[in-house]
Amino acid sequence: MTDHGVQIAPSLLSADFSRLRDEIQRIETAGADLLHLDIMDGHFVPNLSFGLPVVEAVRRVTDLKLDTHLMLSHPEQYLEAFKKAGSDSLTVHLEACEDDSHAAALIAQIRAVGLECGLAVNPSTPVDGLFSHAEHCDLLLVMSVMPGFGGQSFLPETPEKVGALRSWLDARGLTVPIQVDGGVTPDNAAACTQAGASSLVAGSAIFGAADAESAIRNLRP
Ligand code: DX5
Ligand code: ZN
Repeated sequence: MTDHGVQIAPSLLSADFSRLRDEIQRIETAGADLLHLDIMDGHFVPNLSFGLPVVEAVRRVTDLKLDTHLMLSHPEQYLEAFKKAGSDSLTVHLEACEDDSHAAALIAQIRAVGLECGLAVNPSTPVDGLFSHAEHCDLLLVMSVMPGFGGQSFLPETPEKVGALRSWLDARGLTVPIQVDGGVTPDNAAACTQAGASSLVAGSAIFGAADAESAIRNLRP
């Protein structure tokens, strides 16, 4: 992994699934920092994507860090399984938690299995919900679309949310990185990073581009 300050995480959801190995090698060569895996259960979000056997297969063909975004109800049931499959980090949704103590327990469980832990909020959830958990997390994810589908348009209120969260964290000396996910393109990436995001997920903007290397470069500040 190269340290460019801002990490670019292509979302596998937009890859050609009939050629997964080639697609992963393509974005690896193009300079991806992480590989973002969108796991959807048809319950927490109204769509299904892929699950453990695919994560396990992906693990066999890349050394990229597997940034695993769990859009699942009851994520606690699958933490150990994702660890076994090869995930490096698990991001869970605050909206999948019944209350703050559930969220705190989930974060502790993820760390107890030895994985990095991210906590995500949907566009309709204020970032305040992340405050009490921030110091226990390795990543905070501000969704810039409603989760469930790739290829949606970036919600323009996102950079302001990122900025508010970054200011709150900075005021407390917390260095936890902020990730933005959904509809990220060269047109809005700079607004996200200027607001304080240091990890950008992009599916269609990278896998949909003929030249993945320039697509990744164009997302960097
Ligand atoms: C949305 C997913 C995103 C999405 C990103 O539910 O979490 O990771 O696949 O894809 P684009 O960049 O196409 O919005
Ligand atoms: Zn995602």
